[in-house]
Amino acid sequence: MCGIVGYTGGNQAAPILLYGLSRLEYRGYDSAGLCISSDAGLTTVKARGKLANLQELTSQGTALPGVCGIGHTRWATQGDPNDVNAHPHESASGKFAVVHNGIIENFRKLKAFLTAQGVKFASDTDSETIAHLIDFYYKGNLLEAVREATQVLEGSYALGIVSADDPGTIIGVRMCSPLIAAIADGEAFIASDVTAVLKYTRDVYYLDDGEIAVLSPNSVKFYDAYGEPVVKPMAHIDWDADAAQKGGYAHFMLKEIYEQPKVCADTVLARIKGGAVDLTDADIGADYFKDVEKIVILACGTAYHSGIAAKYWLERYARIPTEAILASEFRYAHPIVDDKTLAIVISQSGETADTYAALGEAKRLGARTLAVVNVRGSTITRSSDRTLYINAGPEIAVASTKAYTAQLAALALLTLTAADQRGTLERESNAAILAELQRMPETMQKTLDATAETMQYLATLYFNQSSIFYIGRNLDYAASLEASLKLKEISYIHAETYAAGELKHGTISLIEEGTLVIAVAAHMALFDKLESNIAEVKARGGDVLCITQERCRADPEQVANRVVAIPDVHEMLTPLLSAIPLQLFAYYVALAKGCDIDQPRNLAKTVTVE
Ligand code: AGP
Repeated sequence: MCGIVGYTGGNQAAPILLYGLSRLEYRGYDSAGLCISSDAGLTTVKARGKLANLQELTSQGTALPGVCGIGHTRWATQGDPNDVNAHPHESASGKFAVVHNGIIENFRKLKAFLTAQGVKFASDTDSETIAHLIDFYYKGNLLEAVREATQVLEGSYALGIVSADDPGTIIGVRMCSPLIAAIADGEAFIASDVTAVLKYTRDVYYLDDGEIAVLSPNSVKFYDAYGEPVVKPMAHIDWDADAAQKGGYAHFMLKEIYEQPKVCADTVLARIKGGAVDLTDADIGADYFKDVEKIVILACGTAYHSGIAAKYWLERYARIPTEAILASEFRYAHPIVDDKTLAIVISQSGETADTYAALGEAKRLGARTLAVVNVRGSTITRSSDRTLYINAGPEIAVASTKAYTAQLAALALLTLTAADQRGTLERESNAAILAELQRMPETMQKTLDATAETMQYLATLYFNQSSIFYIGRNLDYAASLEASLKLKEISYIHAETYAAGELKHGTISLIEEGTLVIAVAAHMALFDKLESNIAEVKARGGDVLCITQERCRADPEQVANRVVAIPDVHEMLTPLLSAIPLQLFAYYVALAKGCDIDQPRNLAKTVTVE
């Protein structure tokens, strides 16, 4: 989704803005632009396509003199991805320039009003409306004009604004789209996320909805929607800036796949004390689950898939009725939720608009809320009663990998805690699963070592497929949903998951000679059932790749065309391991096809619009 940066200080702004935008490239975009505000007025340069085009156009920023400016990477929502629709947008007077992330839902009404006042629009975007509105309200006080303009906006917005009348000043505003402000010695920044500014400072402020930040080189001041000053706490970011670099890997996605053992250790190990799970860091005490009558898990995409695995776990091991619901559907589904319901919202970014909206709806209905989130200080964590951080570190590739397995690990800890508090799982079984979870970092490493080469080879055999089907039952079904999403996101191969038993109810008609079907059969208790489904596929000419455990008693090679084994593990934890070869398969297929793996077409890392 769109990325915003702003800089004011003593150095040339354009190279700093371009650097910041390069750190935000991972969010996904289709055009980019800069506006420098100086005594000479505003200078705006925009270019469709990759940031490299803007870098070339501005000679890496050196062609744009000035020490204050704003930059933007645009992920098109309203209006085609072209130079004119790229941000920043200037007001008709040329006095103000605006960058925007979000959607202005009432822009047609506002545009009609402004057009009636004689304003001429240059672009097809909703965002341009904001620049003209500021012009309309401006009577010599920039803060006041911005405040009045935002009062009439409906929708979501993070804004960066500069004015020709106030060179050296940047205004940032936030409503339901992420924005941070940051300060260093004689410099101030705004950005969509901290990765854009980490090279310069670790002292950041997270804006809340309705807040306005006014930046000058030596200060950042905050105001509420009524223009009243607000005192905000500063947060210090302590993660390593190198964590957001590729570190020798060809792609962030591959690096993040290989980081999974360490991430799993960071999620799990400090939370096991004296042989028991201790979630006090998330303020989850001994009675947390005792009066929970129902759980709803709300999430999107990959996070939803970890939620489906957790649904199976919580029902089986903690015996709590649990539904995993797509966050985008929840608000409009008239859900049955009350104060005995625990709403677990899962989100890597903590900024996903649909998930945030679902969280709001769950709260409105009286549910208790728990966020399972990666990014510290993000919107969803600040709006939830409690947060269980997954500690995955920055995830840069659009295709989520390490956040997925870290979510699973955190949800497994949560399940074992719930089962313990409700007495639904024998102590020995609970302890045995926990011990395996504790060993999971090594088991994941073994899985990487054992499967990477094979998956690379298999990718060379199958990268030309036009459709690939995934099947599985129960937890393997949950794992398959994630595996097919991974493949389609980055390789653009049509990929679908079906509950294995469901295939014969229609989809089997699509199986023809040579169609690849990936059968995830890591859940040993259901292997025989899956074996029958595999036989049905093979009988129709399908080529079956089976992912199972080393201990599989049946001779899987008699069953499938090819077999990849993950180390033996308790069935509850199989999704943490089966994910690994399937992520590698998606990666190597996309590599063989020459796809843009870290920034796949049309996708954004953080989806901040509903
Ligand atoms: C995963 O590979 C995707 N990029 C996407 O489905 C993602 O998981 C989804 O948009 C939710 O994001 P979140 O975890 O940041 O809320």
